[in-house]
Amino acid sequence: MRFCVVLVAVVLVLHVSRTETAEETSPEQTDAAEQETEPEKKEKTTEIEEEKDVMVLHINNFQRALSENKFLLVEFYAPWCGHCRQLEPVYVEAAGVLKGERKEGESEGYRLAKVDAAEEKELAEEYDVGSFPTIKLFTDGDRNNPIDFTGKRTVQGIVQWLKRRSGPSAVVLETTDAASEHISLHNVTVLGFFTSLESEEVKVFYSVAMEMVDMVFGVTTSPEVFQKYEVKNNRVVLFKKFDEGRVDLSVSEEEKVGKEELTVFIRTNSLELVIEFNEQNADKIFGSKVHTHTLLFINSTVQEQKSLLTEYSTVARDFRGKVLFIIIDVTGPVSHVLKYFGLSEGDAPAVRIINTDTTKKFALIGQITAATLQTFCQGVLDGTVKMPHGAVTVRSWLQSGRSWQRSTLTGMTSSLPRWTPRPMRWRECLCLASLHYDTTLLEKTAR
Ligand SMILES: *[C@@H]1O[C@H](CO)[C@@H](O)[C@H](O)[C@H]1NC(C)=O
Ligand SMILES: *[C@@H]1O[C@H](CO)[C@@H](O)[C@H](O)[C@H]1NC(C)=O
Repeated sequence: MRFCVVLVAVVLVLHVSRTETAEETSPEQTDAAEQETEPEKKEKTTEIEEEKDVMVLHINNFQRALSENKFLLVEFYAPWCGHCRQLEPVYVEAAGVLKGERKEGESEGYRLAKVDAAEEKELAEEYDVGSFPTIKLFTDGDRNNPIDFTGKRTVQGIVQWLKRRSGPSAVVLETTDAASEHISLHNVTVLGFFTSLESEEVKVFYSVAMEMVDMVFGVTTSPEVFQKYEVKNNRVVLFKKFDEGRVDLSVSEEEKVGKEELTVFIRTNSLELVIEFNEQNADKIFGSKVHTHTLLFINSTVQEQKSLLTEYSTVARDFRGKVLFIIIDVTGPVSHVLKYFGLSEGDAPAVRIINTDTTKKFALIGQITAATLQTFCQGVLDGTVKMPHGAVTVRSWLQSGRSWQRSTLTGMTSSLPRWTPRPMRWRECLCLASLHYDTTLLEKTAR
């Protein structure tokens, strides 16, 4: 016991005397000490440090990282760049996912790294980094031919994109069993039927497969598989577990189907004819190349309204690739969409069309039938449905008096009667109002 006390006392004395000496150190001495330690802290050796699973690279360890990692994704960032900061947690998570999958001692894996381009001017110059973040993939230690990252900046997006670069982008299916299993495993699959794998069409197919990382691709040259799926010459078939089940695109030499055309074919046909508006589908809807959207608002608990879907789907088929058909259930969390279109729950069933380029909105007046829908959609595409329709709708909303207070156009109520002969003002208002829609979309897709 006594021994302990003594020990504590000794330690205390030692500590105090140490502190005293430290305090007594002259400013000159401290400077000298710092000068000594500073370069040591910053010294860039070939060692590779990691920050939360992301390798921190600089001019001295860059080459080493390249040679030790078969697939190395490098983000060139700047500390002040907002997009880079936004990406950071995503990048870190993706790095963790990929690192976790890697087996001990294996160099075949994928690694994520970052380079502070503001600090590492030499590297930034070498790769001509002009904007932030710039993300490049280096493979097989090749320093000179990185490819630009073209995937989505989400965890899933990064992981999928990287994996697609390394493995075969299309599974080779040489038996009918392999083909049917492959097709049945996925909701949507794209199968390339080619008589030989040595052709321009196959190259196009593979380059599309490489880019569309969210799709599953297969390829076959087997006569047996051709026969089973009744294919006679080179073609791409999209199989899906909904709507028409299968869509074919002939890609024989004469057709000259390019990368762009094939991409559009796959994008268009992999979408459901009628897409439900919800968070999971936001990417599909707002990432689509089709910018005319028809929206059917229904209350799904009302059978009469639900049955409108049949007619809606019929018409959707005629406009595939030209108009997206979206269904919005007003019993869901969609008040922001209703508000944007100046509707309330009680207005269902209702049909609106919006062109997301011009942000013009159109309302279908009267009964909703396959015939009126058909005429309405065609009219909007042809430009024959004009603003007067919009104006009429506004008046009918006003009369019904239900939604107007909650509508985004509230401020315009008093001047409304004078708008009717002045469609330009109306148009302006619509555009202003549409900003809300766009913001919601961005938020949705960002999530
Ligand atoms: C396939 O479609 C079903 C029904 O729409 C859906 O529940 C499921 O999540 C989908 N599976 C995949 C892998 O997308
Ligand atoms: C949907 O319809 C049911 C039955 O008419 C009604 O009780 C319910 O309030 C409606 N839901 C909405 C969100 O309007």
